[in-house]
Amino acid sequence: MSDRKIPLAGVIGCPVAHSRSPQIQNHWLKTYEIAGYYVPMHVEPQDLETVIRSLPKAGFVGANVTIPHKEAVMQIADKVTDRATLMGAANTLIFREDGSVLADNTDGYGFITNLHQGAPDWKPNGGPALVLGAGGACRAVIASLVEAGVPEIMLSNRTRERADQLRKEFGKRIQVIDWVKAGNAVEDASLVVNATSLGMEGKRPLRVPMDGLQTSCVVTDLVYTPLKTDLIQAGEDAGCTVVDGLGMLLHQAVPGFERWFGQRPKVDEATRAAALA
Ligand code: ATR
Repeated sequence: MSDRKIPLAGVIGCPVAHSRSPQIQNHWLKTYEIAGYYVPMHVEPQDLETVIRSLPKAGFVGANVTIPHKEAVMQIADKVTDRATLMGAANTLIFREDGSVLADNTDGYGFITNLHQGAPDWKPNGGPALVLGAGGACRAVIASLVEAGVPEIMLSNRTRERADQLRKEFGKRIQVIDWVKAGNAVEDASLVVNATSLGMEGKRPLRVPMDGLQTSCVVTDLVYTPLKTDLIQAGEDAGCTVVDGLGMLLHQAVPGFERWFGQRPKVDEATRAAALA
């Protein structure tokens, strides 16, 4: 009998049943014929540290982290990447051979890679971006747009203080716009991003007027339930290139899989189908 260890990974959340990460990761394990397992783990906040410290001893090579643990894991990890520090949250843990825990954030990578894949003609320096929202997901969007070289980011959020805070952190390329005036900024935008939870199934609709959309604008939504949000529909109606939010979820999963299982997976139609199954 072989004593080779079978690598284990999983997603830690509370709740965790909604997570599509197991479908995505297990699809790749099967596709690349890797002997490994990826499981959902429901962990209460008070047990988070104990669980994370135990997992490497049980054969785990890493884990994804989702709501509500993305900030708390930063305190538990032995090392945090600069990207995760910048975003104030981590979504990917790597357990190293010596048992230490590295926390990383791949949401920004997922966002920008999805955008480039879905809108190959989009040029980061081609004009201003309009970003709606200022929550956790929005930080990843802004960090990756700044890094990509977008010259100006018009940022609008219902609670203006949260947008002002992001401007303080990310600098003068961010221009904060009142939530009620966000619709006026649409016509100047080369990229419109919804990083709020508006438009998600069970949530309120996104009511920012999109009449000003230019055909040359790229429209993307972080919401992927439904896949075709009202914003994506408005973008299609205006003749824009549209990029749905499922791709961000798929691409953010790539670096973790590669680190844990030693193979860089491809995001393709079969991956999308697996995530939607
Ligand atoms: P996430 O980590 O997914 O970004 P979050 O930090 O709770 O989640 O942020 C949710 C975003 O959706 C915020 O920008 C929030 O605006 P506020 O900062 O004003 O709360 C936005 N959002 C949620 N419900 C909203 C609503 N009814 N109207 C406008 N914006 C809303």
